[in-house]
Amino acid sequence: MPAFQTLPGFREFYPDALARRNHIFRVWRHTANAFGFLEYDAPVLEPLDLYKTKSGEEIESQLFNFTDKGGREVALRPEMTPTVCRLVGDKAATLKRPVKWFSIAEFYRYERMQKGRGRCFFQFNADIFGEPGVEAETELIALLTQCLRGFGLTEQDFYVRLSDRDLWFYYLEALGLDEARSRAVLGAVDKYEKAGDDAFKGYADQFGAPLDAALKEKVLAFLKIKSLDALEAVLAPHSATAAKLGARLADWKKLLGNLAAMGLEKYISVDLGVVRGLAYYTGFVFEAFDRKGELRALAGGGRYDNLVGKLGYADMPAIGFAIGDMTFGLLLEQRGLMPAFVQAPDVYAIIGGEQERLAAFADINAIRAAGFRVDYPMREMAFGKQFKAAAESGAKLALIYGSDELAKGVVKIRDMGTRTEQEIPKVGVLETVRDFLSA
Ligand code: HAM
Repeated sequence: MPAFQTLPGFREFYPDALARRNHIFRVWRHTANAFGFLEYDAPVLEPLDLYKTKSGEEIESQLFNFTDKGGREVALRPEMTPTVCRLVGDKAATLKRPVKWFSIAEFYRYERMQKGRGRCFFQFNADIFGEPGVEAETELIALLTQCLRGFGLTEQDFYVRLSDRDLWFYYLEALGLDEARSRAVLGAVDKYEKAGDDAFKGYADQFGAPLDAALKEKVLAFLKIKSLDALEAVLAPHSATAAKLGARLADWKKLLGNLAAMGLEKYISVDLGVVRGLAYYTGFVFEAFDRKGELRALAGGGRYDNLVGKLGYADMPAIGFAIGDMTFGLLLEQRGLMPAFVQAPDVYAIIGGEQERLAAFADINAIRAAGFRVDYPMREMAFGKQFKAAAESGAKLALIYGSDELAKGVVKIRDMGTRTEQEIPKVGVLETVRDFLSA
């Protein structure tokens, strides 16, 4: 047994795994660029306080944190949102609004390991700062869907559940709950999918009595709402007295109208059962899931209009989301949408001996400089073994540098597919290789 193992939940990326990861990042980056988002990066280690209370209890309990040698309390970042708020808050006066930024970075959470969940994982984060209207929601939900569609996933494969914490608060207020009680109810709604009725247990501990039975029925009915029509019907009796509810319904109509105009209706599902566990969300929230319901969330996000202000900067409206690479990678594999990456050279050079090696080097370097991939054996080796290595490498072409050929001023070029060979002038190797590979 080797002395050192990878820490539980940490991942190593062998070249084939890294090729798959890079593929995912490439498509995400390309998509974000197409939407006019600018890329940023930030430190992996942050002051512990950045996450305490800002991210919420669940993430706080999952932090990888320690005291550094200077006595500072620090944590490996579990998410990007507080950090990007600091970046934007710090330069708010000079940034052109709306700020549309994205990043691809690694995060750390000491979580219970399960399928699609690790202790280190990558996220694609995209956020918009400075836009209070549903145009920002529209843009981000469009970007989220395109980040998934860009791999060939369709509405058969995933959907986005759309909900609204504002609407929940306004509704609970209309039902007579104060803010503390409403927060407790939303905590229960967040756990309801996993815990069922047990989700409401903590409520009694906090407030001395269980949630009133009639009220609980209303909460349960509300969290099961799956359409705008149903939402309007439930809110109708309250809309007259609670103006906020009416205005909020208008926002919903506008957002759903925008998404429909973008042709994205088929990906969106109204679902008040989603409220998001993180502490900072304020308004619309959303999560993406696989249609079959076999995997954990692919992505999650929402509006967090108070977080920049909570970090000590001037308040700024903000909204964003993150897609994780783990569940997403599983979905691509399941749907057969992860390409097979063959990292084969274009050309393999077969070299007779040390003299011939020197003759080959000039060509090898020139072909590489022209942008083609070339490999060759680093040590002297029998021709037979080199032919075998060339075949195993998957190269399209082999160049054969034998002493007899070089004496005549030629090298042999072998088409590895058709197994045919011909002699070509040594001076024209690059041109011949280029013609062959671009044919
Ligand atoms: P989150 O829901 O905690 O949101 O994470 C977003 C996504 O990251 C999840 O849907 C999941 O795919 C992935 N993820 C989270 N934890 C793990 C884990 N332990 N292992 C593997 N994947 C994981 C946030 O992090 C918010 N900061 C997103 C956001 C950006 N909100 C506004 N802007």
